[in-house]
Parts: sequence; structure tokens; C-alpha cells
Amino acid sequence: MHVMITGAAGFLGQRLTAALIEKGSLNGQPLSRLTLLDQIEAPRPEVVSALTVEVVAGDIADISVLERCLAGEPQVIYHLAAVVSSAAEADLSLGMRVNFDATRLLLEGCAARGLSTTRLVMASSVAAYGGDLPEILEDMTALVPQNSYGTQKAMSELLINDYSRRGLIDGCVLRLPTIIVRPGRPNAAASSFASSLLREPLNGEAAICPVPTDLEMFVMSPQRVIEALLKGAEVPAAAFGLSRCFMLPGITVSVAEMLEALEQMAGAEALVRVSHVPDARITAIVSSWPARFETRKARALGFTGDADLADIISLHQRDRDVLANGN
Ligand SMILES: NC(=O)c1ccc[n+]([C@@H]2O[C@H](COP(=O)([O-])OP(=O)(O)OC[C@H]3O[C@@H](n4cnc5c(N)ncnc54)[C@H](O)[C@@H]3O)[C@@H](O)[C@H]2O)c1
Repeated sequence: MHVMITGAAGFLGQRLTAALIEKGSLNGQPLSRLTLLDQIEAPRPEVVSALTVEVVAGDIADISVLERCLAGEPQVIYHLAAVVSSAAEADLSLGMRVNFDATRLLLEGCAARGLSTTRLVMASSVAAYGGDLPEILEDMTALVPQNSYGTQKAMSELLINDYSRRGLIDGCVLRLPTIIVRPGRPNAAASSFASSLLREPLNGEAAICPVPTDLEMFVMSPQRVIEALLKGAEVPAAAFGLSRCFMLPGITVSVAEMLEALEQMAGAEALVRVSHVPDARITAIVSSWPARFETRKARALGFTGDADLADIISLHQRDRDVLANGN
């Protein structure tokens, strides 16, 4: 089984690489080759088995880079490379190039090679929804994104659906909830504060809350997202029906509930590390993302989510401790 990952040096790309190597197979076929594409060189994983790893450092919107990666005819492609929300809003042409043009090039490259059975799993986002929305959203709710990142994701979704309908590729688009708790440092995603609010105080550091505490978000732990990405490669094509795009089963939480959970798990001293400094730009982007979803399709296909916030925080603490202890 040859698996290619775009955005392999990123947060999810690195975790997915490790999870694939640990799992060792997809769809019952042993993992034999990994192609890791990113604009920066993805860390080369330590591999013990007979696995060929090709690390490609290049621009995904450059056709020659894609050609090189697709030459090995991957059977599964995880398309994770992206310019995240704030950055795509700040630079329209960069966002269009990486989040949309590259998806189109990737699809065209697969079609040109006859990779009709290659499963292309793309990470889309809650940001694809927006506008006048019902209180509870469904997978088939119209996508009227209110920012360029969401628009670029929505356009990519449509293309993947159409290339799948035409039998040119076997697509699966997972709309990811906002991922918390993301380890490391804050990034350019407008949602970055949601991880900071928990991660920094849990580490004894200060965090800034830039949004009103009644703001709700639809969230999922990185651990469940990685499980979903693995599963996305294994769902039989016939099970998708007419749409390849659906929301993963996240949970709805308000910022106030996040702070409450933080206090319950780490005490009042953790809570005082959070200061409230309103940021209109971040609030405008994040409050345009809906927070309540009916995720019937994902559940019917066997995708599962976190039980609650305490579950998400415990998973984060477990991973952080494993990392700190080096095992
Ligand atoms: N983390 C989240 O909360 C979240 C939520 C919803 C959707 N997603 C989606 O999941 C995917 C992965 O997210 P992540 O959190 O790992 O993001 P990330 O920013 O950590 O990783 C994205 C990777 O894409 C790479 N990249 C950017 N431009 C590139 C280019 N021109 N050529 C090649 N590589 C390029 C970056 O170098 C980076 O390593 C993205 O598509 C993102 O939109 C993430």
C-alpha cells in the first residue's frame, strides 16, 4: 500500500504519519511506501519495517512537484496541505493557490494517471459553513462560507465530489471540527486561541481569551481526528451515497465551558492565568463558524468522537506526559 500525504510536515501530517506507521496497514494491505510532501521538509520517520519513505520538499501548487509525487501511483492520498484560516484571509491569492488551485492540480494529476480507485481523503473545515444557518446544521446544509479559507475548502469539496461522481478518483472529504488541544505554540489559525486557553494554563503559562465566553465552538481532539483520517481511507466507496463530504462527530462547547473544565481539572490557579483581551478580527472569523451539527452520516459510517471536554483534556495531558517522558 502506497500512501501519500500532502502537508506532511504539519500538525496533523506528522501525527498521521506516525499513526500510519504504527498501524502498519490500511484496508488489510501492509504499508509499503510513504510519500511525504510539504513545502518544508517533513521529518523522516524512524522506520523499522520494510517501508520506503520518500520525503519531498516542494510547493504543492507546482505541477512538477505533484507529478513527482504521483509518479509512484499512491493508492491513498491524504490531502492536508493548506494555508490556515487567518493566513488565507490575509492573503487571498496565496489561499487560492494552496487551498484551491493545488487541489485542482492534484485531482487533474490523479485523473491523468488513471488513479480512479485511489482514495483521496481531504481535510475540510467547519469554516466551509456560514451565513444564515439553521440552529442545527446537517451535512447537506448549503455551504455559504463567510471567509476565504472556508470558500476555498467548499470549492475543493465540490471538485472532489464531482471527480468522484465521474469515477476519476475515489474521494472522501472529512469536515474537521476545530481541533483542541493542539500541542506546541499558537499558529495563524483564527481558532488557535481555543487550544491556548487550555494548553498554556495546564503548563503553568498565561493565555489570552480574545472572544466572548458565550461563544460556542464545535471541537474534536487531535487523537479522534487521526482515527477518523485512518478510517477515511477504509470506508467502502459504495457507502458514501451521493455526497463524499460530511462533518465528523465533534462536540459543541462554549468558551465558558472550556474555562470551567480547565478549572475542574487544574484548579482555580489555572483559571487565573487566562486574561480576557477582546479581538474583533478573531471574534468575527470564529463566530461565523457554526457550532451545532447533526453528524448522522459520519456516525452511520462508523466514525466516533470524544465523549466530553474532560476526555479531550485527559488525552492532551496523556500525550504531553508521554512526550515529556520520552516514551
Ligand atoms: N487543525 C485544525 O483545527 C483544523 C481544523 C479543520 C481543518 N483542518 C485542515 O486540516 C489540514 C491540516 O491541518 P494542520 O492543523 O495540520 O495544519 P498545519 O498548518 O499544521 O499543516 C499544513 C501544512 O501544509 C503545508 N503547506 C502549506 N502551504 C504549502 C504549499 N504551498 N506546498 C506544500 N505544503 C504546504 C505547511 O507547510 C504545513 O506543514 C488542513 O487542510 C487544514 O485546513 C485543520
